[in-house]
Amino acid sequence: MKINFRFSEKSIGAPVVRFAGQTDAGPTALGVSAAAVGKSLANAREDGFRGQAGELVVVRGVGVDLWVGVGDSNAVDGTARRLAGAALCRRWRDARWPRVAVDVPGAWAAPQQLGEFVEGVLLAAYRFTRHQTAPTKPAPPRDIVLLVPATAARTAAQRRAEIVVGAVDFARDLINTPASLKTPAALARQAAALAGGGVKAKTLRKTDLERLGAGGVLGVGRGSAFPPVMIHLHYKPARPRARVALVGKGVTFDSGGLSLKPADGMMTMKYDMAGAAIVMAVFWALKRLRPDVEVHGVAPLTENMPGPAAYKPGDVVRAMNGKTIEVLNTDAEGRVILADALSYAARLPVDRVIDVATLTGAATVALGKAYAALMTDDDALAQALSDAARGAGEKMWRLPLEKSYRDHIKSSVADIKNIGNPGEAGTIIGGLFLKEFAGDKPWAHVDMAGVGWNGAGTALSPAGATGALVRTFLNYLSAGEKA
Ligand code: BES
Ligand code: MN
Ligand code: ZN
Repeated sequence: MKINFRFSEKSIGAPVVRFAGQTDAGPTALGVSAAAVGKSLANAREDGFRGQAGELVVVRGVGVDLWVGVGDSNAVDGTARRLAGAALCRRWRDARWPRVAVDVPGAWAAPQQLGEFVEGVLLAAYRFTRHQTAPTKPAPPRDIVLLVPATAARTAAQRRAEIVVGAVDFARDLINTPASLKTPAALARQAAALAGGGVKAKTLRKTDLERLGAGGVLGVGRGSAFPPVMIHLHYKPARPRARVALVGKGVTFDSGGLSLKPADGMMTMKYDMAGAAIVMAVFWALKRLRPDVEVHGVAPLTENMPGPAAYKPGDVVRAMNGKTIEVLNTDAEGRVILADALSYAARLPVDRVIDVATLTGAATVALGKAYAALMTDDDALAQALSDAARGAGEKMWRLPLEKSYRDHIKSSVADIKNIGNPGEAGTIIGGLFLKEFAGDKPWAHVDMAGVGWNGAGTALSPAGATGALVRTFLNYLSAGEKA
């Protein structure tokens, strides 16, 4: 659903969106008497409206009022504002109103707050309809009029929200795309198309990977009919204040390889490239937001398949940094390809390296689908990423890189093995494995297996790819330069 925002100081003849918490009386509206609004809210409360975050009722009186709940009236935060926007969007989808007006409360009129509401509306508007021959009729574009004077800062915040959600939707589209339509070469073409506007794109093909000694990516790729590649994106502003490498796992389909997954475990494995999708989406937005941070984006792209040449349990592969890996389970392939990607990123002229990966099912066991797992030995980096997540309305929880568990991945034939003890701290083991390849600069690992996909959908996302963490990383990369 395409939604256009505009600002106006004058009330218009359209349904008006109004916000109220669990206790307050609600804001007074432009052009409507406080008494009329009070009466409208009283009617809403009579209809059972309790003001809970994301709740919505329609009241027909003098005009049409959409009362949207914001939860605890004294603690209205970005999440409440995003949920309010999303609730409006969902209700609007089934309604006939071509446009609605929003009675913007004073506390929401600040650019950041307004941006959060806009983000919520746009995030909930996403649908993946590419493969539906008779999609539910494409709704005509709709207009939202924000009843607050336009200022440069407000317009910038609205524009920023559109770019951020544009990037989230870019990632969602890539992740929702069937695996057979996004082979490594096909995805690499999409990455190459991001070049321009301050972004350079490079594709390392199989021969390049051989020259570089990327035995991990090449090993995992052997079972597939489609050769693996690695993409390297680079955004460089005039005077960068920091330099970051963002590395994303790009397994375009994870069958498990010869350590084959059961059918149920494979159904959603087209999303095993969500880390790579985030990296690409971040560059899609960097061109448009132009923050003063230099960013390198690296993503190894491969299928994990049990073809005739597939790497086998017991095989030893050598990663780009020279370390050898004993592969005891071909389904722990993410860490094997990231061993190369991190080795590669560690050599780039950057100050810190962050990887994001759908690495372990154990991350969902530990934290469920709301929290990404964050692992790093660098407290400042942990703080910065957590702050960025909070500001974006996303959640991360830090897990320890417990040194004593390193023993679990000691190999008797190679430098390290790719699995630990079954059922023991699987997500942390993944992190400890990656640490061996991440070099000496501050490094953080984000396991997004839980947050990247939601079969039931969330308040802000339909079922399927959530686009989670795109907002967090964009927030992290442009902290301090928002409107
Ligand atoms: N891509 C999976 C992890 C995953 C599982 C992500 C479910 C999202 C949902 C990864 O490659 C994998 O298979 N990991 C194994 C590791 C194990 C063999 C040590 C896992 O989690 O079972
Ligand atoms: Mn796997
Ligand atoms: Zn995987």
